[in-house]
Amino acid sequence: MSELPQDETADLIIGRDREYLLPVYPRNAIAMERGEGVYLFDTAGRKYLDLFSGLGVNALGHAHPRMVEVYRDQATKLVHLSHHYSQRYPGELAEKLCWMSGMGGAFYSTGGSEAIEGAIKLARLWARDNFATPKTKIIALEGSYHGRTYGSLSVTGQDKYREGFEPLVPGVQFIERNNLEQLRAAMDDSTCCILLEPLMGEGGIMACSHEFMQEARRLADKHKALLVLDEIQCGLGRLGRWFGFEGSGVTPDLLVLGKPVGGGIPLSVLLVRKEYFSVFGPAKHGSTLGGSPLACRLGLEFLSVVEDEGLLARVKDTGGYLQQNLQALANEFDAATEARGEGALQGLALNVPGRPLVEAGHGLGVMLNCVQGTVLRFLPSFILQREHVDIAMGALRKLLKQYGEKKPENVSAAAAR
Ligand SMILES: Cc1ncc(COP(=O)(O)O)c(C=O)c1O
Repeated sequence: MSELPQDETADLIIGRDREYLLPVYPRNAIAMERGEGVYLFDTAGRKYLDLFSGLGVNALGHAHPRMVEVYRDQATKLVHLSHHYSQRYPGELAEKLCWMSGMGGAFYSTGGSEAIEGAIKLARLWARDNFATPKTKIIALEGSYHGRTYGSLSVTGQDKYREGFEPLVPGVQFIERNNLEQLRAAMDDSTCCILLEPLMGEGGIMACSHEFMQEARRLADKHKALLVLDEIQCGLGRLGRWFGFEGSGVTPDLLVLGKPVGGGIPLSVLLVRKEYFSVFGPAKHGSTLGGSPLACRLGLEFLSVVEDEGLLARVKDTGGYLQQNLQALANEFDAATEARGEGALQGLALNVPGRPLVEAGHGLGVMLNCVQGTVLRFLPSFILQREHVDIAMGALRKLLKQYGEKKPENVSAAAAR
């Protein structure tokens, strides 16, 4: 099934979108009306279990009462100000994020791509100001995703996004994830930064090994380059800890955050270690809408709710349960090959296209998402519970069953993974 029967309101909404919004996204033919907790409701009142959380933004689900309260209150006081004046929340959020991450300062913008732009601009400016010889090379990973603006696209290691937009920003060298030899061969004194996602989301739920991250750190120190971690998708609690780099033995020089950090209002953050605090002097960077009092206050509330409701532990527990269940599906069904990921960022690798499953999932009341054509990505809110995983698994079993069950000789191979 590709499209659900629609009511008149939905037809109108979907029709208008098709007529007026550029066809950049493969939009599903469903018109949503509202959200509540882990569920979304369409204009016909149908309910969908949201395993996607608006691409990872709605980490507290929909209409969390504490977020709604803060939103209402701040909207009556001050929504946007500009960086020409001070207000309490931008500084408070920066202080808290620095304290949590061990970083020393923050720059706000509105989206992940924009924050990545800031990171690579800062790395190049720092290198230009501190070294006599050219130091502009950026090392990034094949298969990575860092955004769609020119700079962030230039460090994104996927041809399908880059194709047609050349010439891109020069000086980027891509290497294979977890390939220590390639990393060592690429690094030299002309490198200004290495850019990594500890756990690639859009790239298919692929992790950097601790060994690889540690070697990146060592080589960055040796060649006086910055280690930049893009935790826009995997950071801020999604892996069941505040930051993806925790436990890796590595700390970054620059840390990029986005998605849930503004509680649903556009906000992204470039965090820098104290020694890089003054690299961006006046006129070197900017963002009119970045870091509004509303977004920053919501960001503070988001962090407090995660703490107060013990959501890091919840993400670990529910995420572990989700992974076990996904692996069981991979053991049982022919079309699924492997479960991978951590916490609330999990993937189920398929050997069939994922898009038809996403579409058919709507008919079963489940919102799925697919990356790289064949990987179902699970990016739920942090409030997801085991009982919701059970609902999702019921739907997935139905969807996968149509492709057949594994033959006994394949079951043991899949179970061994
Ligand atoms: C790891 C990573 N970096 C950067 C981006 C770009 O963020 P945005 O779409 O907010 O510009 C994304 C978006 O999905 C992402 O997952």
